[in-house]
Formats: sequence, structure tokens, C-alpha cells
Amino acid sequence: MRTVTVGLLGCGSVGQNMLNLLERRRAIFADLGVQLVVCGVLVRDLAAQRDVPTGTPLTTDPSFLNECGMVVEVMGGIDKPLSLLSGILRSDRPVITANKALLAERWDVLREHALGGRLYYESAVMAGTPIIGPMSTVLRASRFIRLQAVLNGTCAYILSQMEEGKPYQQALSEAQALGYAEDPPTLDVGGFDTAHKLAVLARFCADGDFKFADVKVSGIEDVTLDDIAAARAAGEKIKLVATLERDGGGWKAEVAPTRLSNDHPICTSGAGRNAMVYEGEECGPLIFAGGGAGGMVTASAVVGDMMDCVLGFPGHVPLH
Ligand code: HSE
Repeated sequence: MRTVTVGLLGCGSVGQNMLNLLERRRAIFADLGVQLVVCGVLVRDLAAQRDVPTGTPLTTDPSFLNECGMVVEVMGGIDKPLSLLSGILRSDRPVITANKALLAERWDVLREHALGGRLYYESAVMAGTPIIGPMSTVLRASRFIRLQAVLNGTCAYILSQMEEGKPYQQALSEAQALGYAEDPPTLDVGGFDTAHKLAVLARFCADGDFKFADVKVSGIEDVTLDDIAAARAAGEKIKLVATLERDGGGWKAEVAPTRLSNDHPICTSGAGRNAMVYEGEECGPLIFAGGGAGGMVTASAVVGDMMDCVLGFPGHVPLH
């Protein structure tokens, strides 16, 4: 049995669920000939209430990173995780991250690691609903035409609750209580989290060096109950939609509140869910839909990436 030491950065909802899921999947790792040993879990506050397996090595000291064979980053933010990961990246050790902001905004640092197959990030977009895996494998064979997607669970939840007549602020508070929202939630409702995710996806189907700054962004803060009622009267729903499509010789990437017909696949895929319609010339239109935010659904993709990593599968390699 091979031992792989794992370091975890962050122990919020995703980190706690990931540690518990790892316990439940120990037999599968053992079948793969691997014993995972969590050698450190970096937290800000040791005294905070957490639901983690007994004996979890919580610490505020990141020195355990020196001895990790694999690092999982679920702490969020940009500069802090990047500085903690710098030694790992320099020593070519695998990194698994759910951090779409880091991926989107510091691609200059991470791209080489991704091209080397050492960066795994299925959980960063649509959480446990697989999209990065297909985009980084089978979908490459089709010429990409266009995608339209709901990629933010918080906004999906808020808009679905507003359809039931709930005021925006109340729906936002509920999304926060459910553990969907970023801190601060401006990242969600301002459209930036969706734009981060769209930039990550664009690197598989449009341009391997796609810049976050090239996404045009607007959020849902100004959507009113009246707007939603007007859409309903026309047989439509308002969704925060990310669009990526060819535009002359380049690409148009945009995030904006958009009215979609009630029978559009994004609307029929279920209230509050993430959903994508992907169009490739040869594969035709495809629909992906499922949970896109929340502790366990995100943790499921993180643990899936860990399994790929110990099996020796490469991480998610963007277009060269
Ligand atoms: N805040 C994000 C969302 C979490 O609401 O979709 C998952 O990326």
C-alpha cells in the first residue's frame, strides 16, 4: 500500500465535507492501493465549531505543506492561497483546487502547472456537476461554437425565490445561510463569480490563455420583482447567463441577467440549479445540469479529482 500525504488549505463547508467524504471513501482509495494521510489542515481559528473526523490535524501553521505529496485548496481568496501554494508549484507537486477566482485571475502563475497536468479543478465550475472533465477530454474533438450557462448557485437561488415573490434581500440571506454565497456576496450577485468560471471554461474551448478581464460582466442587483413579473407575463424567466461564442476572428464572453423562454433547457433543468447548453459542430447541442454550489456537492468533485490524481490521470489541461 502506497501512502500519500495530503495537506488541506481551508476548512469551511467544502473542506469539512471533503474530510468526511474522504473517510467514507477510504475503501476505494485502498482498492487503488493508496492510503491517504491528512498531514495538516490550515485554518484561521482553531476554536471554530467544525464537523470533521476525530483526530483531524487542524493547525494555523502552514509548515506541514513542506511534507505533503498533494495539496487541496478550498480556502478561497487569491493572494493568500497563491503565496501558500508557491512552494508546491515550484516543486511540481499536484494541486487540487475549487478556487475559481484564483484560477481566473492568476492564470499567469498557474497555467504552466496546468499544462503540466498537475492542476485539478473539476470542482471550480458547476461544483459536482461534471463540465471541466468533458471539456478537457472528449469535447475537444468537436469544433466549439457556443455555450450558454447558469454557473452561480447563489444567483440561481435568489432569482428562483424572487419568482415565488420573495424580496431580493431575504433570498440573498437564505442563500448565504445555505452556504452557497461567496464572502463577500458581491462576487456572486455582481456577476464576478460567474465571470471567473466563464474565463476558466473559455480556456478549454476558446483560447488557452483567455483573460478574465475579457469577460463583460453585469450582475443581478438591479433585477426587481417587477422585472420578474414582466418576464413571467411573456412566458420567460430571468437568469444570470454566461455566454461564450465566436465573434468574428475572436470571442465574445459576457455575463448578464437574461430573459429566457420557459421552455429553454436552462429553465427546464430545475429551479436554483446550474445548467449549461454547450454547442459543438460535431457533438451537437449538449445539456449539463445539476447542483453547482454547496459543501458536499463541491466536495464530491474535489474527492473525484483526488482519485484521478492518485490513479495517475493528468489534471485539467487547457488548450495549448
Ligand atoms: N458562490 C458560488 C455559487 C459557490 O453560488 O455558485 C460555488 O462556486
